[in-house]
Amino acid sequence: MHGNLPGLHDLYDTAEKRLVAALYQLESQNPMEPHNFAADEQLRDGTQLHIRAIRPDDKQALVDLFERLSPQTIYYRFHGVKKSLSRDELVYLTELDFHRRAALVAVLHIDGEDQIVGVGRYASAPNAPQHRAEVALTVEDAHQGRGIGSLLLKHLMQVARAEGITELDAFVLAENRHMLRLFERTGLVLQRSAAAGACHLVMTTDTPPSASALSPGGRHPAP
Ligand SMILES: CC(C)(COP(=O)(O)OP(=O)(O)OC[C@H]1O[C@@H](n2cnc3c(N)ncnc32)[C@H](O)[C@@H]1OP(=O)(O)O)[C@@H](O)C(=O)NCCC(=O)NCCS
Repeated sequence: MHGNLPGLHDLYDTAEKRLVAALYQLESQNPMEPHNFAADEQLRDGTQLHIRAIRPDDKQALVDLFERLSPQTIYYRFHGVKKSLSRDELVYLTELDFHRRAALVAVLHIDGEDQIVGVGRYASAPNAPQHRAEVALTVEDAHQGRGIGSLLLKHLMQVARAEGITELDAFVLAENRHMLRLFERTGLVLQRSAAAGACHLVMTTDTPPSASALSPGGRHPAP
């Protein structure tokens, strides 16, 4: 008698799938969701900069960016020599949950095309406390010193804060003065320690970085 009727399990299954699809659609329409994050900024020279959440289809643009980086920038970013990004690394770097791992890209319109010139990301190790993640930034050599790294960090901290990440760890080679200065300039460094040629900084995301501290022409806060 019940042969043609769907079982309770099937009904639940269909309802659940519909609910998940509806929630996904709702989320992807909500511009406040971190994986839809987008902001427009102006550099101190007047150039327009677009900052947005990284997407899975950014893999080729990341390869292109990597190929434009100098050996020194690669060394500072990866703390070692690195010749290329593997397929697995590209998946890891672009397919993110935007909760435990998130990344923003900085996009400039160059010669009629959008080009990714910088990336800021945070990632929380599987065994790390829920509120903690490691942060890293990269800006293409040709565009360093224009304020792009500061803007990426400002927005990344907002995303982290919204996702409950209240502390960011950064491991910076001791000779990487630009990166250390940029982090210090936030005024949000809670702890510093040094070991084996690297500095470990812990920053809070709890207080929004002051607009002037991280703006392209921002002032250095008092130590
Ligand atoms: C560190 C880094 C992300 C900073 O990004 P950025 O866009 O150059 O930084 P900003 O322009 O916002 O400013 C940072 C400061 O460093 C200066 N600066 C950064 N790179 C510079 C360069 N190549 N030449 C001269 N000045 C530079 C800026 O003028 C600015 O100085 P100020 O504080 O006196 O104004 C970028 O230099 C980079 O990608 N470095 C290599 C990778 C790296 O070190 N990653 C860190 C891993 S944790």
